[in-house]
Amino acid sequence: MRVAIVGCGFVADFYMRTLHLYPNLELVGVMDRDSDRASKFATFYSVPIYNTLEELLSDPQVDIVLNLTNPRSHYSVSKACLEAGKHVYSEKPISMDFLEAKELVEIAEKRGLHLSSAPCSLLGETAQTIWKALREQQVGKVRLVYAEMDDGLIHKVPYKKWRSKSGTPWPYKDEFEVGCTLEHAGYYLTWLPAFFGPAETVTAFSACLIPDKLTDDVLDVQAPDFSVACIKFASGVVARLTCSIIAPHNHEIRIIGDDGIIGIKDCWYYEEPVYIQRRITIRRKTIENPFKQNYRLVRKVGKKGEYQGSKHMDYCRGVAELANAITNQHPSRLSARYCLHTNEIVLAIQNALDTGVAYKVTTSFDPIEPMPWAK
Ligand SMILES: NC(=O)c1ccc[n+]([C@@H]2O[C@H](COP(=O)([O-])OP(=O)(O)OC[C@H]3O[C@@H](n4cnc5c(N)ncnc54)[C@H](O)[C@@H]3O)[C@@H](O)[C@H]2O)c1
Repeated sequence: MRVAIVGCGFVADFYMRTLHLYPNLELVGVMDRDSDRASKFATFYSVPIYNTLEELLSDPQVDIVLNLTNPRSHYSVSKACLEAGKHVYSEKPISMDFLEAKELVEIAEKRGLHLSSAPCSLLGETAQTIWKALREQQVGKVRLVYAEMDDGLIHKVPYKKWRSKSGTPWPYKDEFEVGCTLEHAGYYLTWLPAFFGPAETVTAFSACLIPDKLTDDVLDVQAPDFSVACIKFASGVVARLTCSIIAPHNHEIRIIGDDGIIGIKDCWYYEEPVYIQRRITIRRKTIENPFKQNYRLVRKVGKKGEYQGSKHMDYCRGVAELANAITNQHPSRLSARYCLHTNEIVLAIQNALDTGVAYKVTTSFDPIEPMPWAK
């Protein structure tokens, strides 16, 4: 399948890193509205350049467009691509607005085109291993999931020095304005509906706790930098997901069943070990076994070096899945409807900043004094 990239920014290099692993993907050209960026990227990787989106879309060679633009451009770029008859693989989210995302899915369906969206880590070794352990009922009936996507105080780290392989800086202003929920909630929310079926309700809170993240500029949008959501799946499982760029780094998930816990430390690594902590009974007391057992990964590809710098993720795996689906005329695992479902949940959490109904507490109290010996 012949692929063209729109958006030659920071993340485009991550896709280039694993493109060679997929002989069914051929990169035929790249385009960016910033022509200097496009030229720099095209020269670095020796790939042809399209001067405009129209030029790219009128090239009959292009089968799939990889939309790697900023989230606020996803809708317009994907819409133009679908209307030009191209299959689309979009970076997350499909759109920042649910109705726009739905419209894109409908356009794709009407035209018999595929639309998929990142992240594709559900297709990774770790997610597939957890899924297998769940199918085998390794921890009995699952009741509750705790998932964290905390990244620490990102605005305090020297992010202005971060560069992709071809030299593009990390787009910090855009990242802060889009917010960590839209950027990161998907890393777990693209796993959970596959494991537990469709979500039924989302009860969320989100807030912007640090409005002045930049010292030399003003953010145009105050996106949530903290969110917490409880998602109830139709199967009865409830997941609590927390996202922030404030609390210390923690990308853990714990899936709690009647007989134990399945967990990992970090979903950004495709070969992250999966552990099982079984419940044991000692002297009539049932406790979690303090010893965590490794649950064998379903396979090891041993290509970690290939993923270095991109958090050990294989960004092209989802594109390859899409290409296979088109070639073999079967639905993609990351189908448009699946991606729309996860996009809807992520937006419900993000938008809780405006739409979440908070209960206004009506009572208060006088300040309490600490004990004198603790002052
Ligand atoms: N930055 C990360 O660490 C990271 C990691 C994973 C995924 N992502 C996702 O990847 C996407 C891109 O992020 P990025 O970090 O590469 O951003 P970026 O700002 O570095 O690059 C985006 C590029 O898209 C171009 N662009 C924007 N609108 C366009 C349009 N209408 N037509 C043509 N070009 C357009 C911009 O000029 C820019 O060069 C986002 O959806 C983001 O959520 C980012």
